[in-house]
This record gives sequence, structure tokens and C-alpha cells, in this order.
Amino acid sequence: MTDSSETLTLRETAGAAAQTAVILAETPAHAEAVEALNARTFGPGRFTRTAYRLRRNNPPVYAYNRICMLDEQLVGAVCFSRVVIGAQRALLLGPLAVHPDYKHRGIGHGLMRIGIDAARASGEELVVLVGDAPYYARSGFVPVPRGQMRMPGPVDPDRLLARELVPGTLEKAAGLIRPGG
Ligand SMILES: CC(C)(COP(=O)(O)OP(=O)(O)OC[C@H]1O[C@@H](n2cnc3c(N)ncnc32)[C@H](O)[C@@H]1OP(=O)(O)O)[C@@H](O)C(=O)NCCC(=O)NCCS
Repeated sequence: MTDSSETLTLRETAGAAAQTAVILAETPAHAEAVEALNARTFGPGRFTRTAYRLRRNNPPVYAYNRICMLDEQLVGAVCFSRVVIGAQRALLLGPLAVHPDYKHRGIGHGLMRIGIDAARASGEELVVLVGDAPYYARSGFVPVPRGQMRMPGPVDPDRLLARELVPGTLEKAAGLIRPGG
């Protein structure tokens, strides 16, 4: 856990002026608010997603998890958990959720940038996720070569993405993605 906090300037939109949000490390005290945001964003279907199987009984990495606070309201959150792919340790990014009233203002990419910077600074090597390639490309994620990794359940292979924090680690990450590490 870290007591660091950073500010994030939110983009001006047609309906909202530029504002400054605060990005904080998540602590267990935020768990209820983060869960409420994820429930609102993803609905009950979140528990049936394959990525959720990797998170169940696999504690979040609070050192990298970040929340976005605006006017004392939690408006975004990014979580990480640990996985192993072959012999390569990695972080699984997700869920990433932004409150619907605060989308398109840079919170999603800002949360990822700050969380991933913390992970890299702590020596983490690779981040994987299941998500929309066009969205995550802007945060440096690339598609995993087809067939290189397997999830413990059905996943659209085009949505399996990775970002190296240490060059050469994606190539080494082959096989079943397992929780832990
Ligand atoms: C996806 C999500 C996290 C984006 O959060 P956000 O704070 O609005 O994202 P940012 O402001 O950092 O980035 C917005 C940009 O990404 C684009 N974008 C959003 N979703 C996208 C997608 N699925 N594919 C491609 N681009 C996308 C927006 O059009 C916007 O582009 P612009 O900057 O040119 O206007 C948020 O909309 C959300 O919580 N969605 C529901 C849950 C979800 O889908 N989570 C991600 C799992 S894949």
C-alpha cells in the first residue's frame, strides 16, 4: 500500500468544465465503493466472465490499484491481480470502470497510466487484460499473438491484450494463464 496521491486534470467536455480529480491508491476501506461502481458498470454478468475466474480468491494488488475521486465521490477505479503464464509472472488488469457521468474525460487512461507506472517502478514485468483493443492500444496494449496464451475459459482471442513493462517478457509468457504468482 502507498500513501501517494496524484492529481489528474479531467478533459473539458460539452457538458463539463475542466476539473482536477485526485488519484489515490485503493485501500480495503474503498472496497465497498469500488464494488458498487463495478456492479453499476458491469452488472451481475461480471461474475460469469472468464477474467473473473482469475480474480476469484486471488487478492487485488492494492499497491497498484487506483481510484479516482472527484468532489469526494469515487468516479473510477482500476484493479490488478497476479497471474502466472507459463513461467512468466504478470499482472491481470481489470476491472477498469468509470462512472457513466464522467466518461470521455481521460479518467480511464489516467488510472491505467498511474497504476501501471507504480507497477513498473516496483519491478513488475508484464500486464495482460481482456478488453477492447482499440481502447487499450492508447495505453500501450497490443494483441497477444493468437494461441500463445490460454484463459481458463472462453475468451475472444482478439480481446486478449498485453503490455510489456520489461522488453522480451511477452514472448516468454506462453500457456495457460493461472491465478497467483
Ligand atoms: C471503457 C471505459 C473504462 C473508458 O473510460 P473513460 O474514462 O471514458 O476513458 P478515457 O476518457 O480515458 O478515454 C476515452 C476515449 O476512449 C474512447 N473509447 C471508449 N471506449 C472505447 C472502446 N470500447 N473502444 C475504442 N475506444 C473507446 C472514447 O471514444 C474516448 O475517445 P476520445 O478521447 O477520442 O474522445 C469506461 O467507458 C467504462 O467504464 N466502460 C464500461 C466498462 C468497460 O467497458 N470497462 C473496460 C473493459 S473492456
